[in-house]
Amino acid sequence: MSPENRADVGVIGMAVMGSNLARNLARNGYSVALYNRTTSKTEAVVAEHGGEGDFRPAAELEDFVASLERPRRIISMVKAGRGTDAVIDSLIPLLEEGDIVVDGGNSQFEDTRRRERKLRELGLHFVGAGISGGEVGALEGPSIMPGGSRESYEALGPILEKISAHVDGEPCCTWIGTDGAGHYVKMVHNGIEYADIQAIGEAYELLKALGLTYGEMADIFATWNTGDLDSYLIEITSEVLRKVDARTGKPLVEVIVDAAGMKGTGTWTVQSGLTLGTPLNTIAESVFARAVSSHPSLRKAAQAALDGPDQKLHVEDRDAFIEQIRQALWSSKVVAYAQGLDEIRMASKEYGWDIDVSEVAKIWRAGCIIRAKLLERIRSEYAAGGLVSLLVAPSVAQDLADSQEAWRNVVAQAVAAGVPVPVFAAALAHYDLARAPRVNAALTQGLRDYFGAHTYLRTDIDGVWHTDWSGDGSEIPGEDMH
Ligand code: 6PG
Repeated sequence: MSPENRADVGVIGMAVMGSNLARNLARNGYSVALYNRTTSKTEAVVAEHGGEGDFRPAAELEDFVASLERPRRIISMVKAGRGTDAVIDSLIPLLEEGDIVVDGGNSQFEDTRRRERKLRELGLHFVGAGISGGEVGALEGPSIMPGGSRESYEALGPILEKISAHVDGEPCCTWIGTDGAGHYVKMVHNGIEYADIQAIGEAYELLKALGLTYGEMADIFATWNTGDLDSYLIEITSEVLRKVDARTGKPLVEVIVDAAGMKGTGTWTVQSGLTLGTPLNTIAESVFARAVSSHPSLRKAAQAALDGPDQKLHVEDRDAFIEQIRQALWSSKVVAYAQGLDEIRMASKEYGWDIDVSEVAKIWRAGCIIRAKLLERIRSEYAAGGLVSLLVAPSVAQDLADSQEAWRNVVAQAVAAGVPVPVFAAALAHYDLARAPRVNAALTQGLRDYFGAHTYLRTDIDGVWHTDWSGDGSEIPGEDMH
């Protein structure tokens, strides 16, 4: 093939995400080489959508690679895991120095670090790119979080930026950092998505406990979507709650089995948070809430064995309480975003990524699942520089202060009525822990010193100290092992 007739970019994997991303590229004027292990899938994409742009289907991987302009830009959209390694291994012998392989799946960031190292040693670029926005986003403009070398971004960035979602002309795609940084940020995006969804679910449970109909609840979420809570997830909550099941005439949500699935990104977010020692209780609670929901034997046994109140809320002013639920939801959501962004900053230090959190907030403003009005505010708060945490940004701290009474009342009422609100309560506990002048850590240190001579520091004098608990109770200098 003559070099001038080569394709701009190639996509491997013609499942819905891959084919939609390929169509997005073609619709934006790029010539797109296509490859799928089963050729009929590639043929089906071309038969259905061939008119949308310049597609170059290939039945053999060799032909696909040969059809690409150099440096080759190959986006793999196969399922994360072993499939990604298989694609990489089959590509390696066909590639030449400087070629770029992009993994657009939800890969674990440590896998991405390993793959990037392997390809770098071979003179190739490997880009782990988080892509958010589901099927529609892939087609119409996702939020894209690419990692990898800066050099690879020079060849790849303009294309990815063009096909991404835009806000006021600004693309929702930016270079995140080296090796696994892009997939790390996408992982945390998903962790925040879990907490956001669980917090919305808790608001829904409370509205239900107030005796509202599904239509009323859908209206409330639609109204909330016009204010501070304006976000994609709130918008679609209203639509899902309003949906009536055609078979039974019941609200669809009543017909769906009450057990939440998960594919692992939320769990990874929490695992990494535990390793880094960064608080993530809102995200952890949302992962555990899904786990409990999908434990039928535990739930069945507990329903039979465990007593509780009647899950009816007894409030005097229903509308005022609904407004308090809105404030509790907003506050909990802010804590979840703050924790996720803090985790990104911790990881950025640990792995040497130098991630700009305001840029992350900027590219989450559209295209992705957690897109929300709040992100514009987060972007500008971090852009101002020097922020220790989103929670203490002056405007955010003020809003949290204004909401805290409502938030506390909602958690208290929910606890009294037996309505589970793990994320609302976890977020509030984090807020109170973070702002408390002294927490119970001093007692923890005392106990650790008692049973294990782990030593402690004193507030008044320097040094490391140990009390001789089993002897005469005197204090002696200790070895630093606290
Ligand atoms: C996105 C979504 C996407 C996917 C999640 C769902 O950003 O487009 O987050 O990645 O929907 O993987 O995750 P669970 O199946 O674990 O809920």
